[in-house]
Formats: sequence, C-alpha cells, structure tokens
Amino acid sequence: MKILKFLVLGLFFVFGAARADNLIVYFSDSGNTERVANTIQGLVGGDMARIESVIPYPKSKTDKTYVAKREQESDARPEYHDLGVNVADYDVIFLGYPIWWGKMPMIVYTFLENNDFYGKVIVPFATYGTSGLGNTVDDIKRIAVGATVTDGFGMPGRETEKDHTDAVKEWLGKLSAQ
Ligand SMILES: Cc1cc2nc3c(=O)[nH]c(=O)nc-3n(C[C@H](O)[C@H](O)[C@H](O)COP(=O)(O)O)c2cc1C
Repeated sequence: MKILKFLVLGLFFVFGAARADNLIVYFSDSGNTERVANTIQGLVGGDMARIESVIPYPKSKTDKTYVAKREQESDARPEYHDLGVNVADYDVIFLGYPIWWGKMPMIVYTFLENNDFYGKVIVPFATYGTSGLGNTVDDIKRIAVGATVTDGFGMPGRETEKDHTDAVKEWLGKLSAQ
C-alpha cells in the first residue's frame, strides 16, 4: 500500500499541474478552507468543486453554531447542490472542511456517503480555531471504504489570511515521500 501511495502521490506532485485528475473538493462557510483549497490548486492543479448546502446556514454565528450542533446531534445528512463534477472521473481527491464541534460538518459526511471512493486517494485538509483535525481523518477512512486516505493537513483559520503556501508545500512534500 505504501508503494501505491508513493507512486500515486509522487506522480500527482511532479506532474500535478499538467494532470486533470486531481479534484479539490471542499466545504467552506467563512472562506478559510476555500483559501487553502485555492493554494492547493495553485500547487498541484486539478479541478475545484465547492460543496454548498441546499439550505444555507444562518449568517449569525450563534444561529449557525446552534444549527451545526443540532445537525451533529441528530446525525443529519444535509443535502448539497450539484457539484458540477463527477468524483468517478478523478484519481486523487483533496477533501477540505472546517472543524465544526470537533468533527467534519455533517454535509461532508453526506458527500462521502454519496460517492464511491474505492481505489482512489483521498487527501484531507482542514481549518479550525484551535482544536486541530481531531479524529476526522479516521472518520474519512471508516466511511470511504477501499480508498487510500493520506495524513491530513490542518491550520488555524486565521492563518489562511496570510501567505500559507510554504506550509502547504511542506505538507505535500511529506505526502509524496510517504
Ligand atoms: C459551527 C461552528 C463550529 C466550530 N467548531 C469548532 C471546533 O470544534 N474547534 C475549532 O477549533 N474550531 C471550530 N470552529 C471554527 C472553524 O473551524 C474555523 O473558523 C474554520 O477556519 C472555518 O473555516 P471556513 O472559513 O472554511 O468555514 C467552528 C466554527 C463554526 C462556525
């Protein structure tokens, strides 16, 4: 499995810009995770898709926090708009999300359960306030049966407002050496 990882990740890292089979798919409510997604795309190339909820989250932070907690407690699967891409067309899927109440937002679970990741490589990345990635990478491994899930990358959301290209580059470099 390590050799497979090395081959696939090494290939996308070296030829990333020329390859169309990276998909960078992300959910981002306030734009932090989206900035990291853009940085990844600038480095490895590929197509982008944003997961957008059919029912928009409230603008007020208090209301949003409440809705997110309620979704988590009820194990909800919020629906999202058509992504405009077909996950089946890609080999390597970068999956980005903010940490909400210590976990992935429930809409990311919807995305993971709606698609077949067998034989694909999933590269998780997240932004958060302070809590880090938590168990989110293990959650992805559990749901995306048959996928190779790499180590995740995370950074505090406020740091995405500064140039974070070197941090992302360093992480990608470590992945391609795994
Ligand atoms: C509903 C909600 C729950 C959150 N829960 C956590 C949390 O458990 N731990 C944490 O460190 N940050 C938490 N945050 C902060 C976000 O993870 C952080 O601001 C992130 O960078 C937002 O990314 P985005 O701009 O892509 O939406 C939460 C934010 C919201 C709105």
